[in-house]
This record gives sequence, C-alpha cells and structure tokens, in this order.
Amino acid sequence: MSGLLQGKTGIITGALDEHSIAWKVAEKAHEHGARIVLSNAPVALRMGKIQELGDKLNAPIIGADATNSEDLENLYKASMEALGGPVDFVLHSIGMSPNVRKNRAYTDLKYDWYLKTLDISALSFHRMLQAAWQLDALKEGASVLGLSYIAAQRSFPDYSDMAEAKALLESIARSFGYHYGMRKNVRVNTISQSPTKTTAGTGVGGFNAFFDYANDMSPLGNASAESCADFCVSMVSDLTRMITMQNIYHDGGFSSVGISSKVMHKFAPEPEVD
Ligand SMILES: NC(=O)c1ccc[n+]([C@@H]2O[C@H](COP(=O)([O-])OP(=O)(O)OC[C@H]3O[C@@H](n4cnc5c(N)ncnc54)[C@H](O)[C@@H]3O)[C@@H](O)[C@H]2O)c1
Repeated sequence: MSGLLQGKTGIITGALDEHSIAWKVAEKAHEHGARIVLSNAPVALRMGKIQELGDKLNAPIIGADATNSEDLENLYKASMEALGGPVDFVLHSIGMSPNVRKNRAYTDLKYDWYLKTLDISALSFHRMLQAAWQLDALKEGASVLGLSYIAAQRSFPDYSDMAEAKALLESIARSFGYHYGMRKNVRVNTISQSPTKTTAGTGVGGFNAFFDYANDMSPLGNASAESCADFCVSMVSDLTRMITMQNIYHDGGFSSVGISSKVMHKFAPEPEVD
C-alpha cells in the first residue's frame, strides 16, 4: 500500500529524535506522498535531532512553543506559505509533566507544575485547533490527531498529573471536533497508544515494568511507534473521513483485557488443581 497521502500537506509536531512517535509519522507520511512541515519547541530544535529529519524529508522546520498562541499562529502562517495554502492534516504529538520529570509523588504535586503539565500536554491541543480555526488554516475534510494514553480512563500511579492532561486532551478532541466538523467537515481524534520507548515515555517512573506488563497483557503485544505511525497515516488519509470526536485505542488489545494467561502464569507458574 502506498500513496495514501499523495497531494496532501500537513504539520507534524513533536519529533525530537528517531524514537519519537512523531518522527516515525513524519517518515511514513513522506513515504505516502505527503509534503510536510515539522515543528517543535525552540529548545528542542537546539537539543534534538529534528534538523536531520528535516534534511532527509526535505521538510521545513518551524519552531513553536505549543503553549504560546502567537508561535502557533506563526506556525500556521509559515506552513501555509511553505505548503501553498491550508493544510490537510495536523499531528499534535506533545507531552511533558514537570512533576513526572522531577519525580514528585501524585500526593505532593507542585501546582504551578501541574498547570504547566496541563498547558503543555492538553491546552496546547486547543490552542492549535483555535489558531487553525481563526486563520482558516485547515482544508475542508482535514484531519487533526492528538496522542493519548489509557491513564485518561484508568489509574496508573506513576503517570501522575499526565493522566488528567490526557483526559483533558481527549475531551478537547470531542468538543472541538463538534465545532470543526460542523464548520468544515474537519475530523478531530486522539489515538491512545501503548507504552512506547521514547524520551517522554521512558521518563515515567517504572516505565520498563509497565511496558513489559502491558506487553504481556495484550494479545497482540504492545503497539510499536512504527505501527502507530501507520495508523496515524490511515487516520489522516481519506479512508477514515467519517471518523471524528473519538479516542481510538491503538494498544494491541490491552484496553479490553482483564487478565492474560501470561500474567496469570507469573502468579501461578503451575496449573492449579482443585
Ligand atoms: N511514549 C509513550 O509511552 C506514549 C504512550 C501514549 C501516548 N504518548 C504521547 O505521544 C506523544 C509524543 O510523545 P513521544 O512518546 O513520541 O515522546 P517524545 O519525547 O519523543 O515527544 C514529546 C515531544 O513533545 C515536545 N514538547 C514538549 N514541550 C513542548 C512545548 N512546550 N511546545 C512544543 N513541543 C513540546 C518535545 O520537544 C518532544 O518532541 C505525547 O503526547 C505523549 O504523551 C506517548
């Protein structure tokens, strides 16, 4: 299968290094024929490897702090100039919690950091949508995607205040999805991805344990960043044009499993006899 995004243009945020989910999405979108602009926070442009990706994919790189509406307006204006008008898709692949990064317990959060978590990881999604709306920067039927995690629905102690950020992110997809659908058939969705070994992912306490646990619980195993990128390509293609306001699990089945035989085996290595 190829050429799913032939003739399409898009903005991809959040590619920090080759492990980033956004990095894989950019590569796959390019493979499928899309022309893209890459964006990340100014500090990530200095520290990360995005220039390497931009060179490889011949994609302009435009810095934007996702918590700054002016930066986002500039991102759309510069992207429309580079790509020749309103775009077909936007990927929001942005997340960060100072509380998680500095190992604050959930029962001892710093509230100014908590607000930062919500601002960077969730309100930024609204800001991106609102800036696009006000500049009319999306084409008819465009697709906007955010990346979420199942801690929005279930408790994962070490995910801390990022759980609330993801719940808010998913809610924004529903709320803005309504308005943008009515206005221009634009779709807005979130993808709830398996634990993935990236900078953001591995920054969560106990990551390796819950990565292995999720892998053992999921009939298909954990979904890799590459498979997430494949799914993102399909979600911004015309094949999924009637899906909107959804949070879709891309997790190898994890979200529907109560217990798996692999996990049971860890607690009862020998078959139990009544
Ligand atoms: N890795 C996982 O286990 C996992 C699972 C589910 C969902 N996600 C989500 O996937 C998305 C991408 O994360 P990733 O796992 O690829 O990690 P990553 O660390 O590669 O990407 C996170 C990106 O957010 C960017 N960012 C942080 N603050 C920003 C700001 N103020 N403005 C603009 N960009 C900013 C970083 O520079 C980085 O590029 C995040 O929303 C994350 O929560 C990750």
